[in-house]
Amino acid sequence: MWGGRFAEGPAAVMREINASIPFDKRLWRQDIAGSKAHVAMLGKQGIVAEADSVTIAEGLDRVAAEYEADGVTDDLALEDIHMATESRLAELIGATAGRLHTARSRNDQVATDFRLWVRDSIDAVDAGLKALQQALVARAEEHADSVMPGFTHLQAAQPVTLGHHLMAYYEMVRRDRSRFADARVRMNECPLGAAALAGTGFPIDRQSTARALDFDRPTANSLDSVSDRDFALDYLMSAAQASLHLSRLAEEIVLWASQPFGFVSLPDQWSTGSSIMPQKRNPDAAELVRGHSGRIVGCLTSLMITMKGLPLAYSKDMQDDKPPVFEAHDLLALSIAAMTGMIETLTFRTDRMRAAAEAGFSTATDLADRLVRVAGVPFREAHHITGAVVKLAEGKGCALSDLSLAELQAIDPRIDEGVQAALSVDASVAARASEGGTAPERVRQAIARAKEALGS
Ligand code: ARG
Repeated sequence: MWGGRFAEGPAAVMREINASIPFDKRLWRQDIAGSKAHVAMLGKQGIVAEADSVTIAEGLDRVAAEYEADGVTDDLALEDIHMATESRLAELIGATAGRLHTARSRNDQVATDFRLWVRDSIDAVDAGLKALQQALVARAEEHADSVMPGFTHLQAAQPVTLGHHLMAYYEMVRRDRSRFADARVRMNECPLGAAALAGTGFPIDRQSTARALDFDRPTANSLDSVSDRDFALDYLMSAAQASLHLSRLAEEIVLWASQPFGFVSLPDQWSTGSSIMPQKRNPDAAELVRGHSGRIVGCLTSLMITMKGLPLAYSKDMQDDKPPVFEAHDLLALSIAAMTGMIETLTFRTDRMRAAAEAGFSTATDLADRLVRVAGVPFREAHHITGAVVKLAEGKGCALSDLSLAELQAIDPRIDEGVQAALSVDASVAARASEGGTAPERVRQAIARAKEALGS
């Protein structure tokens, strides 16, 4: 394709280091779509004859049908998907194929293809994240009243509802989706027509190619168009953040499935056994979701470092933009699907959760709050009194609600008889009815809002 001034072909290793077709063949649909938009515009503008434009478009459809049926071969001699497609087009329609590359360069071509691919990937990831939100909301609704310990420092802190806990992840995923959506809006400008770096002398119509490919508008600066990959980085940053959220949820599943916690059990479908220990049920999928997030962050780091320090405009380093994006996409899509499957099917052992919530004096704050509300005690002082109550229960090896009123009043006479009821875990969660709080009524409101947002 570019051999005119060369007497010899490339060395084998040169060919190998230069070729991107083993991975960029994944762009074939986008490459065909971009070429079809380009050649239709060339025909309309009279840059190539209308009849040639039609011949080329039909030829591209035939190439696409072949790719669809047989896949794209890894022929390193063809270097990349752009050259492979043009070369096959020439075999099919002859010399007319040579008119396709008028008024464009592989630099604007690859920038366009890759944006189209990332845009499709965002749409696919968004659909996956939405399904995960639906699974979280369904399980949250089932468990709007189920009590579990809420933790800080991984120490039992205050009772919360399982529905509230699950809806926390719904919120994280909601922001993840909005991060991808922002990236999509920002990237949706068409680089086609920037040509190699400076634009072109041909009377092209960039508005029409942008429209044909569903971009909002053409990009504004040809140098920037061919040389930035911030759209891919935006995608990777969104992917990395989403994977961190998945990883935290995965970590909770791993922890909760362990025997000392026993808060969840995974069905057979989502468990693996051990080749040596017959009793084992391992949460491998959750561990791998947690592990994959590290690789996704690695993909982000990889492309950031590729781009750092590249002068304008295109440099071949940028060919290395695709593997990390493809890898991150595959890992993220798989992680989302696995997480959705686990959330849909795992069993919450609410009896164990409730027992754990009742241990550890988790309603101590409720006692302090009651002293403030009923007896007008300043919170700091109430905190101090409650500390003494906890100490007493700890010494006796009993729960707060097991202490008699006489014992409580010996510590402070302002403790009233309603206190025992207030110290139950159900009363504790019901009391936390502030906006965004864990009370079942608030959780149900959050679920109703979420269902409306999800259109379900
Ligand atoms: N395979 C190349 C890439 O992915 C296409 C652009 C090549 N441009 C060039 N001037 N050599 O970046």
